[in-house]
Amino acid sequence: MTARNLQIDGERLWSSLMEMARIGATDKGGVCRLTLSAEDREARDLFRRWCEAVGCTVTVDRIGNMFARRPGRDPSLAPVGTGSHIDSQPTGGKFDGAYGVLAGLEVLRTLHDHEVQTEAPVEVVVWTNEEGARFAPAMVGSGVFAGVFDLDEALAKTDVDGVTMGEALRSIDYSGDAPLGHPFGAFFEAHIEQGPILEAEGRQIGIVTGVQGIRWYDVRIAGDEVHAGPTPMERRRDPVGGVAEALARIHGLATSRPPHGRATVAIIHSVPESRNTVPGSVAFSVDLRHPDADVLAEMDAGLRAAVEESCAARGLDGEVSDVWHSPPTAFDPGCVGAVRKGAELMGYGAMDVVSGAGHDSVYISRQAPTGMVFIPCKDGISHNESESAAAEDVAAGANVLLHAILDRAGA
Ligand code: HGY
Ligand code: MN
Ligand code: MN
Repeated sequence: MTARNLQIDGERLWSSLMEMARIGATDKGGVCRLTLSAEDREARDLFRRWCEAVGCTVTVDRIGNMFARRPGRDPSLAPVGTGSHIDSQPTGGKFDGAYGVLAGLEVLRTLHDHEVQTEAPVEVVVWTNEEGARFAPAMVGSGVFAGVFDLDEALAKTDVDGVTMGEALRSIDYSGDAPLGHPFGAFFEAHIEQGPILEAEGRQIGIVTGVQGIRWYDVRIAGDEVHAGPTPMERRRDPVGGVAEALARIHGLATSRPPHGRATVAIIHSVPESRNTVPGSVAFSVDLRHPDADVLAEMDAGLRAAVEESCAARGLDGEVSDVWHSPPTAFDPGCVGAVRKGAELMGYGAMDVVSGAGHDSVYISRQAPTGMVFIPCKDGISHNESESAAAEDVAAGANVLLHAILDRAGA
């Protein structure tokens, strides 16, 4: 069997995806596998067993990233890596992240089955805390690995219960000692598109040329806590009026920049959250996105103006805190070309896409040539328990990943 004719085992990949999806399974058919939770530990242990079963050695670094390495003919070469994440959103789906990890495992299994020796080692990675749902920001494991985030600062991040990432890592025995940041010869990530484009265009493969820019904020608007009954409206400093205007303007930052502008407010808290006390303050999260750095900068300025002006008009106090900034990213033309060649070799319908979601590959592309392979997901829905993908597309993406890896690792 020559490397060009190799194909992965789609049924085995699908069965592994469904077995992984049982860990943290929710009643609505999704998964809740928050980073560094008991479910994350169970999923990591399963991944480790599967990799060791095909002769890989698994190491873990100090932020919990897992590396399953398959030796190549030349151990002096930097490995060709692939992988993604197994942590999920609280109401996540079976495929977001897990697909990229298990498609990578399926590549290892296929090489093992056919006793294919690559020139360079091949490594499948599980990155810690890609979602940022329990510990903000997102993409922390890959960010620490690539030197974007400081390790100690990351380990000190706390969840809503005040548990630090370091404590959570130790509690699931995944605080490792492998050196941070070893080089990759190239890195690829397979992922569902999490949007509607591939399905709408009837294409099986997305050749990902880059990822749009993302900015996260915490906003707090403060006034005075007073009694909801006796206090006349004109004597209040009620933050809710400022929040209402600011939210409408923040939404407008995206709708006035079609088709790529995105604005999402998802976490909203008022203090003291008692229905008969006018809130003293209201805090909310903001997620802004755009593929063009200059437009994203305009949206950033628009957010700050919206908060400042809606507060000034009401004598309120507004505060915008920056949580995260991931600039727009272009992937390596050589790796994008390897994905394109893989799709052509397999005869799959493919098109170039820019990712709307952030991925660990954004940070890995800072220190290694990187590319991504997308497959469609049903109705473009993700970060939702109904997330779904077709078995033939799951297999197609893994075949493209296999050939992109072989193109760079040498078979
Ligand atoms: O936020 C994102 O785009 C990714 O799901 N972490
Ligand atoms: Mn993901
Ligand atoms: Mn996600």
